[in-house]
Formats: sequence, structure tokens, C-alpha cells
Amino acid sequence: MALLIRNGDIVTVGSRFQADIYVEDEVVTCIGKDLEAPPNAEIIDATGKLVFPGFIDPHVHIYLPFMATFAKDTHETGSIAALVGGTTSYIEMCCPNRNDDALAGYQLWKSKADGKSACDYAFHMSVTKFVDETESQLRQIVADGSASFKIFLAYKNFFGVDDGEMYKTLELAKRLGVIVAAHCENAELVARLQQKLLAEGKTGPEWHEPSRPESVEAEGTGRFATFLENTGATGYVVHLSCEKALQAALEAKLRGVKIHVESVLPHFLLDKTYAERPGVEGMKHVMSPPLRAKHNQDVLWNALALGSIDTVGTDHCPFDTEQKLLGKDSFVNIPNGIPGIEDRVNLLYTYGVKRGRLDLDRFVDAASTRAAKLFGLFPRKGTIAVGSDADIVVYDPAYRGVISAKSHHVNNDYSGFEGMAIEGRPSVVTVRGKIQVRDGKFVGERGRGKMLKREPSHF
Ligand code: URP
Ligand code: ZN
Ligand code: ZN
Repeated sequence: MALLIRNGDIVTVGSRFQADIYVEDEVVTCIGKDLEAPPNAEIIDATGKLVFPGFIDPHVHIYLPFMATFAKDTHETGSIAALVGGTTSYIEMCCPNRNDDALAGYQLWKSKADGKSACDYAFHMSVTKFVDETESQLRQIVADGSASFKIFLAYKNFFGVDDGEMYKTLELAKRLGVIVAAHCENAELVARLQQKLLAEGKTGPEWHEPSRPESVEAEGTGRFATFLENTGATGYVVHLSCEKALQAALEAKLRGVKIHVESVLPHFLLDKTYAERPGVEGMKHVMSPPLRAKHNQDVLWNALALGSIDTVGTDHCPFDTEQKLLGKDSFVNIPNGIPGIEDRVNLLYTYGVKRGRLDLDRFVDAASTRAAKLFGLFPRKGTIAVGSDADIVVYDPAYRGVISAKSHHVNNDYSGFEGMAIEGRPSVVTVRGKIQVRDGKFVGERGRGKMLKREPSHF
């Protein structure tokens, strides 16, 4: 099916120009002025619209058994929510826990997405233990096209690895050319601080942040960096939340450590007072690392504008009100996570670009191109160029709306960003040339998404 997108203001990293885009057989085949199209081609008039490469969310949880329950989305619901919000590919954390077999876990995660996702997807493979069979299993997983690992320094006895396991994972990653994402919090300190606070009768969600203070994240980030330095591996800190942790990452970068940084939507827009709200309202805003003191937000925005923070993901991880109430007697039992997959692009555009904190170039880079480059998807994804997949977001900067769980597509009964105004939204979203979304509605083909096979590139 041929598609012609006419007269849009095309924005990619390093360029902005008015032109038409012609698409055939899932890829962009021509970009230029006044292009002709065959009579059967679908035509989209993009006059007055911005035209972006499909956005990529490098950090989502869709299928996730965690904290005695399961995250609420399936690939059917999560991918539609992603697409409505302009995200055309996401990378899911494949998270078998320490008691699971890694290879069986990988197959299970793949089976949950196969034929179900409406957008394209890939996996970061979590390494949650390192035993005799781990190296050969990870080699098979990389050969299958999942060329990134994930480790957790937090979540002791569940997802968490010790320093020896981190070393072995990084050393193997270096040999395989695989980038390693890491959740950086000191598990031992978190466990000790949780016990101390509970013993003092401090059980509400407002104690979640004090149980994992900024110094605990800074220690984890610094330690991860030191291990990268001594193995030569390339790392990617996920959901970095605060100035202290950023300093640890940037100090390492200055020493020449190959370390990249992701922050996620909640940390730019929500602060710890959200988790201090009484009862379940506070619980809805519990995630790890926790929402922080507000002054950190300016630091994150500035670092993002400079490119010191590489990417903005969501860490999309929806648990509904009933699930959050599992932690009503103790904050340590509140399932950690905040949904955001549908809102990332619009909120980043509104509170970044429209508020003058982020230029359009950096916006596209942070929400699409940089993730494509780091995770082996570029130039297939992350840009608009001849030969690239025709994942295109025709974006309406004149749209005005308000985020609400009443109208969102995420399978959850609340939104972490309820009531926030948005100034812009996708009017057309295509995945490999097929129109999947028009003006906030999914109009496309369910199950069309493909798993994106990626080659190692971080040698
Ligand atoms: O609170 C969070 N972040 N939940 C999802 C699991 C993780 O740590 O990424
Ligand atoms: Zn995490
Ligand atoms: Zn996560």
C-alpha cells in the first residue's frame, strides 16, 4: 500500500524542512517537494503539522510478574496506548526472576508479544543470576536478536544481582558487544532502611522515598560505573532520578567510562509530594527510584537539554488501585510502578519544547533517535530517511487537551499524570507505512507489530 504525506514540517536530528514523504512496501522511498503518487495511494495532508520519526520508548514493562502481582497491560492494550501517544516501537524489559530459567523466561516474554502487539517491539534481556548455563543461554538470546542486557542492583533476592554476578555479566557483554542497562540502587541499604523505618512504625507511602534516598541511588550508579570502567563494557543507567546520581554518571563519563543515561517521564514532572499524598493516592505514585525533591527536576531538564541525559523513557509499569492497596499496611508491599506509555511524547513536547526547556532537535533525539542508535535500531528506526521503516508521527501542535484515565488506552484505572494539560498530540501515526492512529483513536491492525532483531554494536 502506497502512502504520500504531503507538505509537512519534517523534523529529524540535525534537519528541519518542508517536504513530502512517499512510502511504499513499509519503507520511505522518496522525500522531496511536490511528489506525485499513483491513484491508489493514500494521501495525508500534513500542512501546518510537524512530522517526526516514530518515537521509541526504551524502557517499558508490559508482562511483569512483580511484587506478588502482575502489571496490568498486555501487549494488546499497551501497544495501542503507545501508538495513540506516538510511540511506534518500545523495548520491553524481559524480567524472569532469580528462580526462573533465563531461556524459558525469554521464550515466555516473546510469546506474550508475538501476534499481539500493534507496534514494533524489542527486548532487553534481564540477567538476574549468573550460573553455569547463563553464558550459553545469553549467547542464544543475543543470536536471536536481543542485543541488550538488563541488570538490577536493587530488588534483593528477586531480580537483584550481587557484584560478582554484575562483573560476570559485564565481562560477557563486553565480549559480545552488548550494551547493559542497569537499575542502580544499593539493595542492601534499601533493605536495611526499610526495616529501620518499619520498626519505627513508619508504614505509609511517604516513607518509600526515605527508604531509598538519593545517596543510595548515587552509590549504585557510581558502582555500576566503576564496574563498567574495569570491564570495558558499555552501560546505560535506567530511570535516573536525581542530581547526585547524575553527578556519579557524569563523573564516570569524564573519566572515559562508556556510560549512557536514561531518565523517565515521572521524574521530570512529578515530585515526592505526590507519594506523600494520604492513602492510596500516595501509593499510586510509588516507583523506584522514588519521586524526588522538586529541585532535581530542573537539573534533569538541563541535563536533558545538554544531551548529558541521553534518552527519556517511561518505565511504564501499571498497577491499579486495588493492586496498590497490597501495600496499605506497609510501603514495602506497594507494587512499584507508574504508567506513562501513552503520555510520554505529549508531555515531553508540552513541558519540554513548548516551555522552552528543550529544542525540537533534542526532543526528537531523546524520544526516538538516541535510543535507536544505542540499541541497534538505527537507521531502520529513529529517523525519516529513504530506506528507513515508515514509522511516522504527523503531529498537531495546535491540539489542546487534558490527560485523564477516563480517556486513556492504558489498562489501568488511574493516570499518574491526571489533569495535566497537553499542547499537541499525534494526528496520524504509521507503523511501517500503515496508518495505526488518527486523532487519538486506534484505527489500525492489531497484532501487526514485529519483534525487532538487533545486532551487537558495543565492542
Ligand atoms: O518502580 C518501578 N520502576 N517499577 C518497575 C520495575 C523497575 O524497577 O523498573
Ligand atoms: Zn528499575
Ligand atoms: Zn523499569
